[in-house]
Amino acid sequence: MKPLLQLHLGAALGSHLVSGGATFQELQNLPSRLRQAAQQIKERSRDGLQGTGWLLLPYSDPTEVMKVGRSLASFDALIQIGIGGSALGNQMLHSALLPPYWNEICHEKGRPRFYISDNVDSLENMTMWKCVDPKRTALIVASKSGSTAETMANFLFSWERLERAVGKEEAARQTVVITDLKESLLKDFALEQGCLTLELPSTVGGRYSVLSPVGLLSAAALGIDVPALLCGAREMAQSLVDLEGMEQNPAWVFAGLTWLHYLRGRNMIAFIPYLDGLAMFSDWFAQLWGESLGKAGRGSTPIKALGTIDQHSQLQLYTEGPDDKLYVLVHVKHVDEDITIPLSKDKSLSSLSYLFNQSMNRLRDVEQLSTASALIKAGRPVLWVEIPKLDAKHLGGLIYFFEFATALTGGVMDVNPFDQPGVEQGKHYTYGLMERPGYQSFAEEARGFSALLSQRTIAIPSQEKC
Ligand code: PA5
Repeated sequence: MKPLLQLHLGAALGSHLVSGGATFQELQNLPSRLRQAAQQIKERSRDGLQGTGWLLLPYSDPTEVMKVGRSLASFDALIQIGIGGSALGNQMLHSALLPPYWNEICHEKGRPRFYISDNVDSLENMTMWKCVDPKRTALIVASKSGSTAETMANFLFSWERLERAVGKEEAARQTVVITDLKESLLKDFALEQGCLTLELPSTVGGRYSVLSPVGLLSAAALGIDVPALLCGAREMAQSLVDLEGMEQNPAWVFAGLTWLHYLRGRNMIAFIPYLDGLAMFSDWFAQLWGESLGKAGRGSTPIKALGTIDQHSQLQLYTEGPDDKLYVLVHVKHVDEDITIPLSKDKSLSSLSYLFNQSMNRLRDVEQLSTASALIKAGRPVLWVEIPKLDAKHLGGLIYFFEFATALTGGVMDVNPFDQPGVEQGKHYTYGLMERPGYQSFAEEARGFSALLSQRTIAIPSQEKC
């Protein structure tokens, strides 16, 4: 039976090569701390406490989300409006499981083009609306709180465009709202206009919501195998929850090693997949890891990277710069599509003969091993995470693995991995500075702090010659 996932940890343990690596003995001494963290997660989930609803998402029934997804599939374009956990997961799923250049080829599959409206960027929003026909475009608005300023501003813009083109009633029929149905301004809007709503349970935090309708609706509309995604996550969930021994549970080992390396001053984690399809997985992971762990003066800074590109950008720093990082290389064992590198008879290219007739996938795999070897030679700790192939089932497993490992790491670091007070602080300042009623004191505070920026300024005068 093929493994769902493998974690190779030999090069993250102390040896004559990895100086200051954690020893297996130390790892084995950690379980009481880890067991406590795992126990805490279980208890919080049993008590339905805020933040642990994601543990149950793999067991949810996808019938409704798939039905709504099918109805959206007949549009020419789909715009998802959301930010952070309400956008990164969609981008991660689509880039991993749909062919590249999706918007150029999706008509062959009879599926809509997909656009994300997340950042606050007028040009991007205006250009996006030039690319779509409003009559043939559906909106998905996703926001747990239903009040995030970026999402609401983007939503007001897109809603106005749609409403102006097709009228209020039709615009409502073309819009799906995903939000916390207990308390959210968006929920009130959906009720008032008659838009379809899907629930983001209040116990699921934004960055843990990719396996909820937030991530699954656009996935279903674009033809991703949602049941397989959930099935992979479920298999992973069952394995990780049941395995309490350090030796068999890769999530425990991942959390334990992160902690031990953190104690040795390695307070960054460089996350390096090697397929273009997993580039957005790094972005998704960065939010999950950074927002979950960065609290109380503790945390581990995620570094988004992509092999082979970052070999030619960051590897110099990784091997000879400060020894302050743990490296996670994500390997996909089998990729169906492969190119045989053509042979050339041109004399000037004869020294490239070592590449002739070689598999391009083999070259990439060799590059990944070379990077691992260069890091190990430099005494840097490397974790190698491997999945057999990049399909919906294995991606579901990979997502759940990292969610679980992140939550456990939070427990071991003694921080709450499910809140984000720093993010909320920024949101409150924005509300205050944009004159939202009730947030005046935040505006005053923000003005006081930001005044510090211009207390000292150096300017280079423009010569206005060009
Ligand atoms: O993980 C989180 O909770 C946050 O980063 C959110 O995803 C982000 O702030 C967007 O919030 P909302 O979905 O409420 O609009």
